[in-house]
Amino acid sequence: MKHLLSAGDLSRDDALRILDTADELLAVARRPIKKLPTLRGRTVVNLFFEDSTRTRISFEAAAKRLSADVINFAAKGSSVSKGESLKDTAMTLQAMGADAVVIRHHASGAPYRLAHLEWTHGAVINAGDGMHEHPTQALLDAFTMRRHLGDLQGKNITIVGDILHSRVARSNALLLDTLGARVTLVAPPTLLPVGVDTWPVETSYDLDSAVEKSDVVMMLRVQRERMNASYFPSAREYSRRYGLDQARMNRMPDGAIVMHPGPMNRGMEISADVADSVRSVIVEQVTNGVAVRMAVLYLLLGGAAEEGDA
Ligand code: NCD
Repeated sequence: MKHLLSAGDLSRDDALRILDTADELLAVARRPIKKLPTLRGRTVVNLFFEDSTRTRISFEAAAKRLSADVINFAAKGSSVSKGESLKDTAMTLQAMGADAVVIRHHASGAPYRLAHLEWTHGAVINAGDGMHEHPTQALLDAFTMRRHLGDLQGKNITIVGDILHSRVARSNALLLDTLGARVTLVAPPTLLPVGVDTWPVETSYDLDSAVEKSDVVMMLRVQRERMNASYFPSAREYSRRYGLDQARMNRMPDGAIVMHPGPMNRGMEISADVADSVRSVIVEQVTNGVAVRMAVLYLLLGGAAEEGDA
């Protein structure tokens, strides 16, 4: 595989190869010297057209731990029109010899343009495109689930909240289905996308009954920046029906975990005590993200390095 554009492109074997490689690479993070020479002399460009804390830092740390050269490009504020600016930027990066381009863009499909129109010859990694996909987030989520629950076959994963605007939900639904888990999406009807009936998931409007049979409850941020209308009566009403508080969390089975991709709106979709509780693996998700992104970079670029060197 040359690019990572969609979680749906990964076969079960591909996904397991990435997750198993990440397991080995996580050990590197525990060493005093957290660095491998694997991608020495290779260049990874982080191309971020949209705000990001975790994902961008995570990709940067991952590339640096594999000894790649990292160029961070924050495209915010560009005055050129969208299509042209992306093409021009990509060609500039190509001229600088990017081996991999990690792209986050507000337009769904932007990474596909880079990859399929061959604006870059490097590997393209989708770090979140609009409301479409965020495959490395799904991989780090699956990685974190596996560490707590073992094999995901038959496990019950509940994803709650703003599914409509969430690339995290879509990528998770696709990957978790590939890994054999059962996914339930819980949201108000207004925040479920049209066509969700074609996704490999069940849907529900009732969080209380869903939490009781969940091995994982994954809360999503209400993405106000993508909303152009009113999707629910009030924040208080949303929080009461679709928020995870202590009382709801207590109804989860023993050993079940709480996840959130971040950034969190504490008090909205998740209460502060739940976010900081022993069931919460939210900080661990961030740590695991670096290992998973190392695995992706290693598998996409590792082999090609030898060819290039020869
Ligand atoms: C998510 C994103 O940007 O898609 N966050 C992340 O990458 N960790 C979810 C969000 O913005 O709510």
